[in-house]
Amino acid sequence: MSDHSHLEPLPVNIPSRPIIEVKELEKIYRVGEVDIHALNGVSLSVARGEFLSIVGTSGSGKSTLFNILGGLTPPTRGTVQINGRDLTQMSDSDRNDLRKRTVGFVFQKYNLLPTLTAEQNIQIVRDVAGRPIEFDAQFKEVLVMLGIEQRMKHKPRALSGGEQQRVAIARAIVNGPAILLADEPTGNLDSKNSDIVLNLLRDLNKRLGQTILMITHNPEAAAYGDRIVQMRDGKVL
Ligand SMILES: Nc1ncnc2c1ncn2[C@@H]1O[C@H](COP(=O)(O)OP(=O)(O)OP(=O)(O)O)[C@@H](O)[C@H]1O
Ligand SMILES: [Mg+2]
Repeated sequence: MSDHSHLEPLPVNIPSRPIIEVKELEKIYRVGEVDIHALNGVSLSVARGEFLSIVGTSGSGKSTLFNILGGLTPPTRGTVQINGRDLTQMSDSDRNDLRKRTVGFVFQKYNLLPTLTAEQNIQIVRDVAGRPIEFDAQFKEVLVMLGIEQRMKHKPRALSGGEQQRVAIARAIVNGPAILLADEPTGNLDSKNSDIVLNLLRDLNKRLGQTILMITHNPEAAAYGDRIVQMRDGKVL
């Protein structure tokens, strides 16, 4: 339990301010002649260092919210502040930077590149962010904590589902993102591997101060968060 307690917390820039501040967020997708109101006025504030679980029925707008927070989709209306900066006012290059460095994504399907080793899958996102691909000592500790340091030379097909998801988590945090967005990270895992991944997310949060937002359909998984918010029909209840 205490073997990783020497890890330094992530740098804290503006401690008093919420790391995410969403106000009256709306997202309308236009499909042919039809408008789909995916988000209908979502307001949400997330504190730095918080582990927030998001639950809600299919189609309630959870992934849409994540795509907006990560700068992948523009909102239709409303404001999103990340680290005190308004996402909708950012230049394209700042938004690119947000995607590469400030926000890390973990998905239900691990999305590892099959022809690359675990190590190369992680290094490639360092490269994209223009950083040296070699892992520093602290990141090597993270790999130990994730239990995958011995698996780095393997390609995804030689890894279990749980191991692949842990590599995907390592990849999501290798650039030290302020925010980790996990969209049903245990959706493809059996209960044993789910427990491993959820405990690791909790460790990342408690030991490294990593801010985490996690979407899940599973109430037991949601209980790992400090707080649970529920979405329905594009709103936070
Ligand atoms: N790119 C898109 N184009 C058009 N409609 C979309 C698009 N993405 C999502 N939608 C619609 O927006 C609504 C919200 O979708 P979203 O993926 O955010 O739901 P969700 O809560 O993540 O659901 P699930 O639990 O099934 O993953 C749905 O009605 C969906 O069909
Ligand atoms: Mg979704």
